[in-house]
Order: sequence, then C-alpha cells, then structure tokens
Amino acid sequence: MSVMTALRHAEVRPESEFVADVWSGLSGRPKSLPSKYLYDARGSELFEQICDTPEYYLTRAELALMRSSVAQMAQALGPELRLVEFGNGSGLKTRLLLGALERPVAYVPVEISASALAGSCAELQREYPDLQILPLQADFTAPLTLPRAHRQPRRTVLYLAGSTLGNFPDAEAALLLQQMRKAAGPGGAVLLGLDLKKDPALINAAYNDAAGVTAAFTLNLLARINRELHADFQIEQFLHRARYQPILGRIETDIVSRRAQRVVVAGRGFDFAADEPMRVEVSCKYDRADMQRLAKAAGLQMQQLWSDQQQQFAVVLLTATQS
Ligand code: AVJ
Repeated sequence: MSVMTALRHAEVRPESEFVADVWSGLSGRPKSLPSKYLYDARGSELFEQICDTPEYYLTRAELALMRSSVAQMAQALGPELRLVEFGNGSGLKTRLLLGALERPVAYVPVEISASALAGSCAELQREYPDLQILPLQADFTAPLTLPRAHRQPRRTVLYLAGSTLGNFPDAEAALLLQQMRKAAGPGGAVLLGLDLKKDPALINAAYNDAAGVTAAFTLNLLARINRELHADFQIEQFLHRARYQPILGRIETDIVSRRAQRVVVAGRGFDFAADEPMRVEVSCKYDRADMQRLAKAAGLQMQQLWSDQQQQFAVVLLTATQS
C-alpha cells in the first residue's frame, strides 16, 4: 500500500465502533441503526419510564408471572445453581428468582455498562450475604468465559428476561441461544422471558404510548448520535413509527424522515428522502410453535412454559438436546 493510500484510509477510519456502526447503517438500503445504542443514560431512563406507561404491559405481566410461578420455576431448575443473567436491568425479577432458588451457588450478572453492574451488585449482596456474586462486564452477544464459583454448582442456568431476545431477528436469536446453550454447558439450561403473540391493537399501543415516552426513547438515539458523533440530525424533522407486522409477528420500529434532508455524521453526509424510514428496533412476539422452532434451531428443547393469567407473557425453560 502506498503512503498516500494509507493516509487516505487513516482519514476515513472511524475512531470508534459507534461511528463505524452508524455509518454502515446509514449506508444500507433500507437505512438502519443498531438497537443497542438506544441505551445510553437518557435512553435507559426513558426505558424505565416506558415500563410505567399504562400501555406497556410487558413489565407488569412478567412481574405478575414471576410472582405467581417463581416457586415452580425454582423447583424445575433445581438446587445449587450458578445463575447467569444476561443484561441486568431487572432487579426485582432477579430477586424473586434468587429468593425462590434452593441454595444458589453463584449469581453472574453480565452487563455492558459498568455503572449499572456495580449498583445492582452491592444491593443484591446485602440481601443475599451468602451468595457469591461474580459480575462480568461484557457484551453478552459475544462469546463469553464465565467466572467460576468457589463451590461447584450442580448446574448453570442462563437467564434472559424482559423479552430482550425479541430484539434479535430469528437467525440472530438462534445464534444467541446457541451461544447460551454452550455457555451453560452439559446439563445446563436457558430460562427466557418472552412476550406472547396477542391482539395486535394491544401490541401496537404498547409501542405507541399516548404520552409519547416511546417516541422520545427512539428519537433519543438521534440526540445521542448528535452529541457523541458530532452529527447534525434535526430531531424535529424525524418521526417515531412502530407497527406490528402480524405475519412476521413483530413490532418494527423506524425513525422516519419528515422531508428530504441531508445529515452529516462525523464528517460524512447522508441523504434522506421525504418519508424514508430508518429501522432502529424489532420486538418479536412468540407463540409456543415459535419457541419450539427457535429452541430446536439452537440445539435446545422446550421443557416447560409458564404464562400469566391473561396469556400476555411467558417464561420458558429450555434444556440442551446436544452439548
Ligand atoms: C427491553 C428490548 C424488550 O422491545 O419491548 C420498549 C424495548 N422498545 N419500547 C421491547 C422497548 C420500545 C423493549 N425491550
């Protein structure tokens, strides 16, 4: 490579993964932005507020289900577990589960944000002084080496709550589940909280709350890109649009350009046509057949399913059919 070529490459080389991901998403057809960047400090705060809106039934349904069925879940999981939780915003669900388990050996929260991780661990340790807490700061979509506990656990269980799996389109979800199966090891299990298919009107309302909290959550991504990547999105010139696609069984959330406009992100310009959408999130919904199909694709099988009284939300226990 000539010196000139090397320099030119150096000029355009993105200084962070964030720039690279945004440039790549904005260069795609259709345009897209990766959902994981929705959760900066403000985004996480807005997500908490979403959970309190009257329309967003998911969190309440999952909590009700944990309250009613956690003893049965603990029974099915067995004693002396190493419990690994992917993403750890869910203090209350976790505490319910840990409280019901028989002599858990260790709890391993896997979380990308160091501050979220530290805060939740200190509180949990006070509540469970005998539990070994082994926080792991990592991106759970990448392969992981789990920390070992002092005491040998009988089984490792990987827990993914909040229908977080739903943010991964089917092929990616199967890969993530396969990785979870491998991390759980022989005899291990995967415990998933999943949102169920239901009346599309209810699902649409949950992602289009009247107070506009979800819209603010989605559009906050543009504010974050402006701030962190020196971009010039005019946020009022974009709209939040979330629609349930019954055939695909998922909410598709887009940010839509209200008019033709050009936006500069870290020195690179991108043109938007009027009404052009940019995909920012999918939230898949499941029925029993979907879960079985997904489990099978990952070398897992469905051992048990619990759902709340209104059949809004489910927790499924998956075990390995192969190691
Ligand atoms: C936390 C990812 C499960 O998809 O329902 C809520 C995020 N997005 N409203 C979901 C979200 C818009 C939420 N998850």
